[in-house]
Amino acid sequence: MTIAQALTLAVTHLRDSCSQPRFEAELLLSYHLNKERLYLHIHEDELVENIEKFQALVDRRKAHEPYEYITQRASFYDIALIVSSGVLIPRPETELLVDRVASIIKREKIEEIVEIGVGSGAISIILARKFPHLHITATDISEDALAIASQNVQEFGLQEQITLLQSNLMDKVTTKPQLVVSNPPYIARDFKLEKNVNDYEPHTALFGGEVGDELLHKIIDDVQSRGVKWLACEMGYDQKASMQSYLNALSIDFSEFYQDFSSFDRGFIVKF
Ligand SMILES: C[S@@+](CC[C@H](N)C(=O)[O-])C[C@H]1O[C@@H](n2cnc3c(N)ncnc32)[C@H](O)[C@@H]1O
Repeated sequence: MTIAQALTLAVTHLRDSCSQPRFEAELLLSYHLNKERLYLHIHEDELVENIEKFQALVDRRKAHEPYEYITQRASFYDIALIVSSGVLIPRPETELLVDRVASIIKREKIEEIVEIGVGSGAISIILARKFPHLHITATDISEDALAIASQNVQEFGLQEQITLLQSNLMDKVTTKPQLVVSNPPYIARDFKLEKNVNDYEPHTALFGGEVGDELLHKIIDDVQSRGVKWLACEMGYDQKASMQSYLNALSIDFSEFYQDFSSFDRGFIVKF
């Protein structure tokens, strides 16, 4: 079977499970052949070796497994991170949280921060690359997530800047951070997620409790009780009112909410 034929066949299989079947068919074939997507267009008549292995990849995607888990790579900011089923696939909107935090770090000349819920390492790795003087203690409750984060930290040579710690929130943190950043699980327990998310991504990375914002509340309380000045968090699109009223009941200097690319409320910054 040629490259063109393999792509046509893959598209017919992926039509019901993917919003961009042609694009994802190309991603899977590029991964199978270990070539750039452009190669597929220039070599349409070339035969595909081990076609059954490519078909097995297509079958996984047809069963709604995210292509990032199949190819074991996810794009975030300007890098590709190793991912596996033990970690959340980093989302584009989390880049906005990184941008917010980066501007505070730069303006306030911050040198010591904590990330709660490091997952694949996406947030900490981008921040460490942007600020070579920055030290980050990055926690996660999940051993699987920490194992993947560790691989990514090593891949980018950031072991000196990022200390990974298995911990519930900041329980095991002994440093004195000037800022805490977190994209915690914030989805309500009974929220109906898409099959590719619900069946494949780790539930410890998704669900924040019955209401969803329980961990966010704990993070705010923990950060305030430690006397940390800055907190930046991602949250659910429908959590602004409840988070605002939670923050209003505390003595804080300043808070601000931000929206994502689709103009949904997506996170907040607090100065205590
Ligand atoms: C939404 S994911 C975010 C992953 C990554 N920071 C990102 O933005 O792609 C949330 C992460 O928090 C971790 N987590 C959940 N509960 C936690 C807790 N109580 N303490 C520390 N980490 C926790 C999960 O294992 C998961 O890796």
